Amino acid sequence: MLRECLTSCRKEGKSIGLVPTMGALHEGHASLVRRSVKENDFTVVSIFLNPTQFNDPKDLERYPRTLEADCQLLEECGADIAFAPSVKEIYPEPDTRQFSYPPTDSVMEGAMRPGHFNGVCQIVSKLFSYVEPDRAYFGEKDYQQIAVIRRMVDDLGFKLEIVPCPVVRQSDGLALSSRNALLSDEEKITAANIYRILNESRSLDLTVQQTHDYVVEEINKIPGLTVQYFSIVDGESLADVTSWDDAPGIVGCITVFCGAKPIRLIDHIRYK
Ligand code: PAF
Repeated sequence: MLRECLTSCRKEGKSIGLVPTMGALHEGHASLVRRSVKENDFTVVSIFLNPTQFNDPKDLERYPRTLEADCQLLEECGADIAFAPSVKEIYPEPDTRQFSYPPTDSVMEGAMRPGHFNGVCQIVSKLFSYVEPDRAYFGEKDYQQIAVIRRMVDDLGFKLEIVPCPVVRQSDGLALSSRNALLSDEEKITAANIYRILNESRSLDLTVQQTHDYVVEEINKIPGLTVQYFSIVDGESLADVTSWDDAPGIVGCITVFCGAKPIRLIDHIRYK
């Protein structure tokens, strides 16, 4: 069905937008879909909880699954087709391909979740090959993921545009994420401190090291929050910087454990 739709789109010269997701859709995903609908003649949204990018089986097991609500949201956003394949359809045989794009995929999430970005490249490259989109939409919430995917697109020569879309936040600053569904209401309030402190750190006149220490200390002071890492990096290569003059774009990327379970939350802030 997907193949037929895409073949007739191409014949008619229609532009195709792809929004890859793992389901448990929220307003952040909706913003990507709406943007794709606006910028393309035909929008495909994939819903596939990709097992190869989960290095922790417990994380995969508890990942929220909400297919019916997801399809309803996609209809409201005007998506043309939801592509929700089974694991067997995507991986009839184990995918043994290895992708390596250091430092983008070896630092931060890459170091904490070995194999994660390899799994992301496996599924995203398959989706790009099936759909052959003109544009693919990714949320900047997963800042590092976009940097890795850009390297993969250059490496494999995919002819498409990667469209990064801004993080959607609650009014208190908490970045929308499918994992927020695993937080209690109280934990959500606690988690909002992450962005508050990141944002504050931008207005202080501190060195890179002082900014790093400020963010880590202030977040760790809050009961229920523990920083796993905070890295201030070149916004493109993701290599560490030691001075604000080291790169034209500089971003702080953070992962914080929140609550009793605990849930890993990621966020970032642009310093320049
Ligand atoms: O960002 C996500 O939800 C996933 O990593 C992606 C890009 C859909 C690949 O499974």
